[in-house]
Order: sequence, then C-alpha cells, then structure tokens
Amino acid sequence: MNLTTKFQNIYGRTERTIYHFFSPGRINLIGEHIDYNGGYVLPGAINLGIYGAMSPRNDERIHLKSIDFSSELEVDLNKTIEYKSEDGWGNYAKGVIKFLLEDGYSLKGCNILIKGDLPHGAGLSSSAALEVLIGYMLLFLIQKPEEIDKKYLALLGQRVENKFIGVNSGIMDQFTVANAKKDHALLLNTQNLLYEHIPCYLNGYSLVIMNTNKRRELATSNYNQRRQECENALETIKKEKKENINNLCVCTLDDLKYIKNEIEYKRAKHVITENQRVIKAAELLKINDLKGFGELLVQSHNSLKYDYQVTGFELDTIVEEALKTPGCIGARMTGAGFGGCAIALVENNNVESFIKIVSKNYHEKTKLKPEFYVTTLENGVRQL
Ligand code: GLA
Repeated sequence: MNLTTKFQNIYGRTERTIYHFFSPGRINLIGEHIDYNGGYVLPGAINLGIYGAMSPRNDERIHLKSIDFSSELEVDLNKTIEYKSEDGWGNYAKGVIKFLLEDGYSLKGCNILIKGDLPHGAGLSSSAALEVLIGYMLLFLIQKPEEIDKKYLALLGQRVENKFIGVNSGIMDQFTVANAKKDHALLLNTQNLLYEHIPCYLNGYSLVIMNTNKRRELATSNYNQRRQECENALETIKKEKKENINNLCVCTLDDLKYIKNEIEYKRAKHVITENQRVIKAAELLKINDLKGFGELLVQSHNSLKYDYQVTGFELDTIVEEALKTPGCIGARMTGAGFGGCAIALVENNNVESFIKIVSKNYHEKTKLKPEFYVTTLENGVRQL
C-alpha cells in the first residue's frame, strides 16, 4: 500500500490535496568529530531516508502519525509545547514546531504521516532527517519552496537536538540533510557554514554502507565527553601559547607540543590530522583519484581508532574485514561511532561477493548479523 492510500485510510478519503516529501539520511565520507571543532567535513546524503505526506487543515492543530511507530501526536499551535519522554519520536517534531513559532513563523494546521526506510540508531542521522523534514513541510505551507532557507532549516534542526532533545551535536548532519546535492559530496566549513558541492561520480566504484548492528550504547555520554576533551585541549594550547585561538582546527601539529595530558594530546592530534585529510580528500575527489581517496578513509579510521577512540570491536572488525576483501579500496566508520555504520568503497564488479564475504567473516568474529546498503549520493530534503 502506498503512502497516499495509507494517508487517506488514516486521515479520511476526502483528503485530496496531499503533498509528498523526502528527507534523506547521511553518511560522512571523511571529517569525523570535526564539526564541533570548527574544521571541514565531507558528508553526503544517501538514498535511504524518511518520506512525509501532508495535507492542510482548517484549524490551528498539527496532527502527526508514523507508519513505523505507534505513538502519535497532536500539537495545538496556541498552547505551550514541552518535551515529554512518552512522545518518543514526536519530540523532534515538537521541538521544530516550538522553535519555528518562537522565531515568529505563523504556522498553519496540517495532517502529517511519515514513513522511513532508514535504520534507526545506526548512525545514519534519522533524527536529523526527521527534524529537517518536519521543518521543510511546515515552512512549505507558508512559503514558496524556493524561498525556504536551507541554512536556517539546518540550524533549526541542530537547535532542536541541542536545546530540546538534549544532545550536544554539531551542525554536520542537519546541514547535509538540508543542502546535499546528487552525485556530490558536501565540503562544509563548520566555522562559517560556507560550503562547496564536490563532484563525486565514483566511476566504477560503489559506496557500500555496512551496518554493524551493534547498538550505540552510551553514545551520547561518550560523545559529550569527547567534546569536553577537545575543549580542554584547546584551553591548554591557548594558555601555553598565550594566544587567543578560536578552535582546534586552526591549530597545527606543532602546537601539540604544548599538551602534556595524553588523552588531550590524542584527541587534538586526531582533530588536526583529520581536518587536513578532509582538505586532501576533497582535492583528490576533484581529480577523481579514488585510490588516494580510499587510502585517506583508512587513515581516518585508524586515527578514530587509536587517537579519538570511538570505534570499538565491531566497527574495527567490519572495517578490517572489508579491507581484506577483494575490490575494496578504502573503508572507515562513519558518524559518531561507538557502534553504528561504516562505509566502504568497492569496485562495482565485486560488490556482491564483497557483501557475502564481509558478512560471513564479521558474523564469525562478532556473532552479529550485519546489514549492507549500496548507496548513491542524493539531493537533500525535497518535495516529491
Ligand atoms: C554525530 C553528530 C555530528 C558529528 C558526528 C561526528 O553524527 O550529530 O554533529 O559530530 O557525530 O562526526
């Protein structure tokens, strides 16, 4: 049954003006744990995401339902909106509505139904996809699509994450979901939010997402701890160098000599070297040097494993197995880490056997069944 029929079954057969939208998940090609350190990241939107159907209502209420989850939500635009844990996924929508109203947008009532094919909690940014989708749909009712400010939409999503949900994430995920372009990676300067679309045609190769299916336990607390360690490292360099420095990504490897604490040293080393890898990776993509690009993916994974320490047994195993398998020219974890997904660059002819071999070897070592999604790089949020 398609989304329109389901929408009519739920909201009534008389619903004729139904608009359809899609908001993608994202992978980060390279530039991990950099977006809260003021450096460059190189993510892209994928072909999995969340679909949304919407019809206008004549009152000031927003009704939200999901095909994937049982909880549903009704928001009265004239009442105070508060976070309630029992509202589950609906809190992301509530946060978006609350901040749009706070920013002075005169939102209109509507019925919304969503359905996703993005695995949840796998580190492919299902929450960013949802925030940006809801924001886009609500603005669509009061603005022309070409007038919707995608940068605002990304910042709105991050605000929901930081101030309503309570996750201290950076801007990369929401920015990608809002602004990505088909067959391109997005080179984003997280200091000033200037960006460039870098062509990424991957001639002869495929991007394979490898889901470890390892739950991302304690991901939020570990994530916040890494942020704090980076702040500490920056403070140390500033104090020792007696200079005012904006963020870790403007520091050089030479500045590491100011750090005596081993943890701070490792974190800063990852951040500084990863930022350099992103710049190099974008240059290599521009000249279509995929082998060189693949090598940078491996270096990035090792830096995240040894210096940033956010990989863990499952991510390391799946990347190791991928790199041993014929046709693979690079692999690394993607997203926050601590479980979730990795990506691999695999020769087209080998993709099928690659999936079989890695699946078998990974299962033998971890007893977990992985999942694989061959993805293309896609446009950001859009009306269908
Ligand atoms: C999560 C966060 C992002 C970013 C990545 C790590 O996905 O939401 O802002 O920090 O982790 O690169």
